[in-house]
Order: sequence, then structure tokens, then C-alpha cells
Amino acid sequence: MNIRLATAGDLLGMQACNLQNLPENYTLRYYLYHAMTWPSLSYVAEDSKGRVVGYILAKMEEDAAEKNEPPHGHVTSISVLRSYRRLGLAKKLMLLSQEAMATIYKAEYVSLHVRKSNRAAIGLYRDTLGFEVHGVEAKYYADGEDALAMRLSLKET
Ligand code: ACO
Repeated sequence: MNIRLATAGDLLGMQACNLQNLPENYTLRYYLYHAMTWPSLSYVAEDSKGRVVGYILAKMEEDAAEKNEPPHGHVTSISVLRSYRRLGLAKKLMLLSQEAMATIYKAEYVSLHVRKSNRAAIGLYRDTLGFEVHGVEAKYYADGEDALAMRLSLKET
């Protein structure tokens, strides 16, 4: 498995992977916006034939300064195709993006939302990566499920 920066040529593969894995889907234009605006924050995992089997779509929070918040990154979406799970791909994708957020954009932390019932993703964020629950956003998702708003500090201690 190869993990590398996502390019414009990967966007259809990322979108296809997202459609298979998650009910939260995005227009191709939104993928392109991420890739063009923050070209070092989104990554793909590809199989030996170059097919996208996992991705992380990430950005810097655009309103941070207006809200008097420090610069911080945000994971818009991450997923790995079912037959490629539990191989450490999501962990690697997260770490690469987090590293780029901190070094290139001086992000002080990274945030994300996750369904409160998503045991696998919460395990990845909390247990493997050290994220903490920052708050609960009631009925955040279209079907009424609550989101956990999670954060991980990227500041070196
Ligand atoms: N149950 C419990 N813990 C899990 C699970 C699981 N099913 N899967 C991963 N983890 C935790 C474990 O701690 C694991 O470490 P271990 O294997 O040493 O025990 C750790 O996460 C790292 O696992 P990875 O192998 O890196 O994770 P994987 O590549 O399988 O991807 C993911 C995890 C992305 C959550 C995958 O299950 C997936 O694509 N799920 C569907 C889509 C999804 O829910 N995406 C996240 C939505 S939230 C958002 O996008 C911001």
C-alpha cells in the first residue's frame, strides 16, 4: 500500500471511496477546493494498481481569525475501504495531515466531528491519536444523530 499526497487526479477516486463508506458526501467541487486551497493536507492510500482505497480530506479552518481562534486544522472526512481496514492506514493518513497542519500552517490543534455511535472512528481518534472530546453538537447530522466535536493539540509540549 502506498500513501501519498492527494492530487487533482485523485478526486474522483476519493469521492467514490467516500460514497462507499459514509453518508456524509460532498460535491466534486468541494474536493477540488480542498486540493487547490490546502494542497499539502489531503492524502490518499492506493493499492498496487493505483486505486484509491483510503483518503483524508482536510483543511485549515477559514474563520479562525474572525472568531479570535488560533490557527487550526479540520478533518473534513477520512475513510478506508472495508477490506483495507485495521492495517493502520487511517492512522498514517491522520498523522501525515496533522504533521503538515502543524509545520506548514502553524496549526495549534486539529478538530473534527464524528458520530457519537462511530466506535471505530472514536477508537482511532481517542485511543490511537489522543484526541479529546471538546463538546457535543446535538443533531449535527442530517439524520438527527449528535456529533462529538473532538480536538487534538498539535503544540509541542
Ligand atoms: N473498532 C475499534 N477501534 C478501531 C476500529 C474498530 N473497528 N478500527 C480502528 N480502530 C482504532 C484502533 O485503536 C486501531 O488500532 P489497532 O488496529 O492497533 O487496534 C486504530 O483505530 C487505528 O486503526 P487503522 O487501521 O489506522 O484504521 P482504519 O484504516 O481501519 O480506518 C476508519 C478507521 C477510517 C474509522 C474506518 O473504519 C472507516 O473508514 N470507517 C468508515 C468511515 C468512517 O467512519 N470515517 C470517519 C468518519 S468521521 C470523519 O470523517 C471526521
